[in-house]
Amino acid sequence: APTRLWGGRFEGGPSDALARLSVSVQFDWRLAPYDLLGSRAHARVLNRAGLLTDDELARMLGALDDLEAACRAGEFRPTVADEDVHTALERGLLERLGHLGGKLRAGRSRNDQVATDLRLYLRDHARQIVSRLVELETALIAQAEHNLGVAAPGMTHLQHAQPVLFSHQLLAHVQPITRDIDRLRDWDRRASVSPLGSGALAGSSLPLDPQATAAELGFDAAAPNSMDAVSDRDFVAEFLFAAALIGVHLSRLGEEIVLWASQEFRWIEMDDTYATGSSIMPQKKNPDVAELARGKAGRLIGHLVGLLTTLKGLPLTYNRDLQEDKEGAFDAVETLLLVLPAMSGLIATMRVNTERLEALAPEGFALATDLAELLVRRGVAFRDAHEVVGHLVVWCQVNDKDFGDLTDDELAKVSPHLTPDVREVLNVAGALASRKAYGGTAPDRVREQLATLRGQVDEH
Ligand code: ARG
Repeated sequence: APTRLWGGRFEGGPSDALARLSVSVQFDWRLAPYDLLGSRAHARVLNRAGLLTDDELARMLGALDDLEAACRAGEFRPTVADEDVHTALERGLLERLGHLGGKLRAGRSRNDQVATDLRLYLRDHARQIVSRLVELETALIAQAEHNLGVAAPGMTHLQHAQPVLFSHQLLAHVQPITRDIDRLRDWDRRASVSPLGSGALAGSSLPLDPQATAAELGFDAAAPNSMDAVSDRDFVAEFLFAAALIGVHLSRLGEEIVLWASQEFRWIEMDDTYATGSSIMPQKKNPDVAELARGKAGRLIGHLVGLLTTLKGLPLTYNRDLQEDKEGAFDAVETLLLVLPAMSGLIATMRVNTERLEALAPEGFALATDLAELLVRRGVAFRDAHEVVGHLVVWCQVNDKDFGDLTDDELAKVSPHLTPDVREVLNVAGALASRKAYGGTAPDRVREQLATLRGQVDEH
């Protein structure tokens, strides 16, 4: 007969259609280790409340250990007859303890249980995600260090704008990851509240000790309102936002890598171990890792929107709709744990085409701003300087010349302000060095940024 936690007032079993709709054990089995942690804490509280003798507690904890080992070894498996993870584990306990196994449920509901389990699961996995994020930061920082001093075309609108250090650009992808790590840690403080003891919705008439179970499970506090505790899924929504934003960051980095690896850019060469081939075109070397990172942002964003939509009309307190909180959360975790190591490996092993980057850095008249600003330093109004340099660019384009190819006469023909000594700013090294205010791309600033980030990563 199927294990059910609620048979008493029903005459027959559920219809097949209901059972199929209702069952969640195929995905919520992931919560088993956390459910067992909660059960141990709850057993101790029942013992202290005088509802389990010391001997019963010892047998209960022994059975929970045994059940955990059996789960881990794959010897205890849920069946489709177990509605959810809580039902399956109670069956495992009954198989081991007989009648005594039925005592653990006192004062506890699946409503406070599942909310507790999911908090434990997400807090645990958020820590794993942070470790993977630190690895990605480390890979980007190592490339920035290795290629320190290499100039690259800095772009806006995907058009050459001003030269930058390639390391500055790589570190521009590290900064969002530091915020992601910060965000997950900040989230963890708010998620560190235990719903256990809230029961179905109103708390318990039994002398439980929610603060003690909270502490035992590593939470900072017990929930101050049982009704909120069983219906609140803010911690899932916030986690999914953090995951979605990580997805967006990985997607933007992925998009850059797709561009950099293209024939048109040729900024980097992917290592063979992180690139894929084509089934028909023998020459192909494709950036699938970066594309999958970009593509998977879609499902991460979807999970956030899906959960918010599920939550928005729910009356207090627990409603079965809340069972829909889990698959998206699990998938977000598993997606990030898949994508992050692949992206770290791709970054760590790519080779940067430094000569090409250096050659491209001044192209597209990327030093035009420097020229205009030199004229400003010589007393020309910026409005006029902008105009003069704009004319120079057009003149060069028409005559198929670069700034560097111009003779003194040609400069003077465009404007009397363009004396031969303006050439001193027409080089990439000078342009980079001049951007030396805090946050700029000057080599000294980038070195400082690198040292700061290095220090932060070492602390993580
Ligand atoms: N499996 C449910 C969930 O994930 C928990 C069970 C609560 N069920 C109930 N009928 N109160 O939310």
